[in-house]
Amino acid sequence: MTAKKKSGGSSANRPIGIFDSGIGGLTVANAIQKVLPNESLVYFGDTAHLPYGDKSPDSIKYYAIRISQFLLKENCKMIVIACNTASSVAYETVKDFVGGAVPVVNVIDPVVDYVTSNKNHHKIGVIGTKGTIKSDIYAKKIHLKDKKIEVASLATPLLAPMIEEGFFDNKISRTVIASYLDSRKLAKIDSLILACTHYPLIKKEVEEYYKKEIDIVDSAGVVADSVKEVLKKEKLLAPKNKPTHHFYVSDFTKSFEESTKFFFKNKISLEKKEIWL
Ligand code: DGL
Repeated sequence: MTAKKKSGGSSANRPIGIFDSGIGGLTVANAIQKVLPNESLVYFGDTAHLPYGDKSPDSIKYYAIRISQFLLKENCKMIVIACNTASSVAYETVKDFVGGAVPVVNVIDPVVDYVTSNKNHHKIGVIGTKGTIKSDIYAKKIHLKDKKIEVASLATPLLAPMIEEGFFDNKISRTVIASYLDSRKLAKIDSLILACTHYPLIKKEVEEYYKKEIDIVDSAGVVADSVKEVLKKEKLLAPKNKPTHHFYVSDFTKSFEESTKFFFKNKISLEKKEIWL
């Protein structure tokens, strides 16, 4: 299955399509909105299938194609896979499906470029969902750039559902985070990649755990900069205008609604969308 190229769709006024399993991608959407305030966004949170972290690659590929198809129907000029798990296992599939109709950005390549450009990194820790860690995508991509960097990866499957439930910056989240970060695997790391788009919401707690002694890297800001670069290169940057944002979910959840308001104030219209038929 391949998407048809849109005719007459060169207008830079079209929205950017962004998706994740839930609220995690909102951290990326929020960063994009800050870096590119003229851009309209269409966000899809696949809350019916959350968490993606323990789903099979085949299921995630299927969800990612269906969502991309929806975003193209919404006339999006770009697709941002704002999820590490989907970026790990479904990026090539989405790119094949889209077939060059619009640019596709994942959340892994910009982070890998960023961490490998810092020559002081010798042992990089990576925490993420089971799916992301099992794919070993960070080690593979980092080693393509620099074979000497040691990469220590640890699956932290409780974190995304915990954050999705609104558990961050409290006693429970601090205990769960510390019990993962205490792992011997992560000993002596000089930087830590938060390889899940939910994790910027616990970045402060992770920084506190490490007493700000190591570099904690999340994807939000780095990916937003990369989105800007791609749009510029493709001459797709929106002109100065009043952007409109649309948020869709595959299932209504209170936490999603609250998080959307948290990031985008009250200017949101949240709609449940059935896209699987
Ligand atoms: N936010 C996602 C990620 O970056 C997915 C978390 C999940 O649904 O398990 O991996």
